[in-house]
Amino acid sequence: MHRPLVVGNWKMHGSRPANAELLAALLAARPFAADVAVCVPYVYLHETAAALAGSELRWGAQDVSEHAQGAYTGEISAAMLAECGCRYVLVGHSERRAGHAESDMLVARKAQVALARGVTPIVCVGETLAERDAGHTEAVVKRQLSAVIHQLGHCAAEMVVAYEPVWAIGTGRTATPEQAQAVHAVLRAQLQAATGRAASMTILYGGSVKPDNAALLFAQPDIDGGLVGGASLQAADFIAICRAAG
Ligand code: PGA
Repeated sequence: MHRPLVVGNWKMHGSRPANAELLAALLAARPFAADVAVCVPYVYLHETAAALAGSELRWGAQDVSEHAQGAYTGEISAAMLAECGCRYVLVGHSERRAGHAESDMLVARKAQVALARGVTPIVCVGETLAERDAGHTEAVVKRQLSAVIHQLGHCAAEMVVAYEPVWAIGTGRTATPEQAQAVHAVLRAQLQAATGRAASMTILYGGSVKPDNAALLFAQPDIDGGLVGGASLQAADFIAICRAAG
C-alpha cells in the first residue's frame, strides 16, 4: 500500500490573511503520514508556493486550459502552473463539468496538457443523484474515466483519480464507505485493465469528507485518500482528516 494522499480543494474561498493562517497551521501540524496538498485559487499560487517551499507539503490549481498558449483571455496554461511549482491540478471537477459545460473530451485534453508539463492531473469523476437512482453510476464513471485513459495512453498510470459523487459534494451527505468502495473497486479494475499498474495508482474519495467520517472511508481497500472541499478551509478539520489518512 502506497502513501495516502489528502488534497484540500479551497474552491473560490480564501483571502491573504486567512490563507497565511491556514498554511501556517498546516506547517505546524507536520509531519503527516499522508502526502498532503492544497489546490488553491490561481491568484494565491505564488504566495502558497512561498509559504510551503522547503516543506513536503504540496500545492496545485483547480483547473487548467487545454491549450498550450495563445489568445485565450482569462485562461491559465499548464506551463504556468508548472512555473508556480504546482504538483497537482484538478481537472473535471463536477462544478466545472456542470457549471462550465466541460465534456469528457475536454477534461481528457486538460489532463493530457497537465501531464505533459509534469503537473499531475487529479481527474474527478462522479455521478449525479438522478444517475445513481437510475442505476447508471458505474456506466457514468467508467465513461468519464475511459475518455481520459484513451487520451493519456501509456501515461494513464501517472494520473490521480478522484471519485466524487455529485450528490455528496458540499451537501453534508457522504457516500457510505461501502458505496464509495464499490465504485473505487470498479475504477481500479478499469485502470488495471488499461495500465496494468493500478495497484500503485491513487484513487481519492471526495464529497463531504469530515473528521468524523474520514477514517472509515480511508479504511476501505480501494480508497487511497481524500479530496476535501469545505473541511479543508478549517485548519483543525483538515489536519484531523490528514491524520485519519495516515
Ligand atoms: P466538499 O467538496 O468536501 O465540500 O463536499 C469536495 C469537492 O468538491 O472536492
